[in-house]
Parts: sequence; structure tokens; C-alpha cells
Amino acid sequence: MSILILNGSPRINGNTHILLNKVLEGIRSVGGDAELIHLAELQLAPCIGCGVCEQKGECAIDDDMTGLYHKIPKAQHLIIGSPIYFYNVTAQTKAFIDRCQVFWSRKYLLGRTREEEPLHYGYLVSVAATGGGKCFDCARLSLRYAFDAMDITFNGEVVVQGVDERGAVAQKEDTLQAAYELGQKIGSAA
Ligand SMILES: Cc1cc2nc3c(=O)[nH]c(=O)nc-3n(C[C@H](O)[C@H](O)[C@H](O)COP(=O)(O)O)c2cc1C
Repeated sequence: MSILILNGSPRINGNTHILLNKVLEGIRSVGGDAELIHLAELQLAPCIGCGVCEQKGECAIDDDMTGLYHKIPKAQHLIIGSPIYFYNVTAQTKAFIDRCQVFWSRKYLLGRTREEEPLHYGYLVSVAATGGGKCFDCARLSLRYAFDAMDITFNGEVVVQGVDERGAVAQKEDTLQAAYELGQKIGSAA
């Protein structure tokens, strides 16, 4: 079983990426390893609602999501990172989530569950510039439903507000530590 980290920020070396690297560092500190994929570097078309997955359990679009359809069921731990854009995840992350309709169709329409396999766990890592109390609500909700479609149990998060400039999160010692510890928890459990 593997650990998969998806970075939904289009800003490579940005705040989300820095936190995800901390998670990775934590995983490696306990002897684990993970693959980190930048969604912005993939060709990920948005879902077109064609309904093919509802009949066949497979996506009609042939792009880089095909690789993720294979990787996700094999990942025991899936960490999804995204900055907040207009109170939700980025377009790159949302394109990925919408393409998870394949998993939703397999589970809820075609009855293709993976009950015999071990539990899979999902985590949210997110950053935002502002301090509003409901900042992460929409991202959390989108992700929880996406994890449900993937048969993944939500198992934790690291989120931080008040970071805007690229790299600003490097000043947030507590958050970096929380990301590192999340990585250790994941690495120890894998
Ligand atoms: C298009 C866009 C929309 C944004 N919307 C929000 C928002 O609704 N709330 C917020 O707190 N920050 C918002 N931000 C700020 C980002 O969340 C912030 O800059 C974050 O640190 C970027 O993370 P990154 O470096 O990982 O890309 C937005 C930024 C952009 C570019």
C-alpha cells in the first residue's frame, strides 16, 4: 500500500507545497515514503457529465486522470492539499474531485465496493489569506464527499489562515510542526 500526496495549488513552491513537503518529511522521518503529484502539471480536463462512468464505471476522457484512477485505489493514505480560492479549493483540485464521479458511480450505481481491502484514509492540507471563520467550510465539504466516493475515511487536516505571499507559511512554526506530525502519524500507520 502506498501514500499519495496531491498538490492542488498552481503555485509550485507555494504555501500548500511547503506544507505538503513537511508532511512528506514527517512520513520519511519514520521510515515511510510517498509520491507527491502536482495537479497543475497534469492534463486534467473537467468532468463533462457525459454519464459514461455511470454505465461503465470508467471515464470517457483519456488524460492524466487515467493514471490517478489506478493510483488512488492502491493508496492507503491520500493527502490532498489546496489553497482556498473564493472559499473553496482551486480549479485544479475541483477538476480532480469532479472526475472522482467515476468512483461515485462505481460505489453507488454499480455496487463496486472494495470491502475486502484495508481501510483507506484521507487528509486535507489547506492555506488561506484571510481569517474568516468559515474559510475552510466549502473545501472540507467538497473533500469529504470526494473521499466518500473514493471509499476513503477522512482522518485529519492541517489548515492555516493568514498566509498569502509565496512562502509565507514558512514563518508559521506551529503549522509546519503540525504538518510534520501529521506526516509522522501517516508514516507510522502505513
Ligand atoms: C484566485 C484566488 C482566490 C483566492 N481566494 C481566497 C479566499 O477566498 N479566501 C482566502 O482567505 N484567500 C484566498 N486567496 C489567497 C490564497 O489562498 C493564498 O494566497 C494562499 O496562500 C495561496 O497558497 P499557495 O501558495 O499554496 O498557492 C485567493 C487567491 C487567489 C489567487
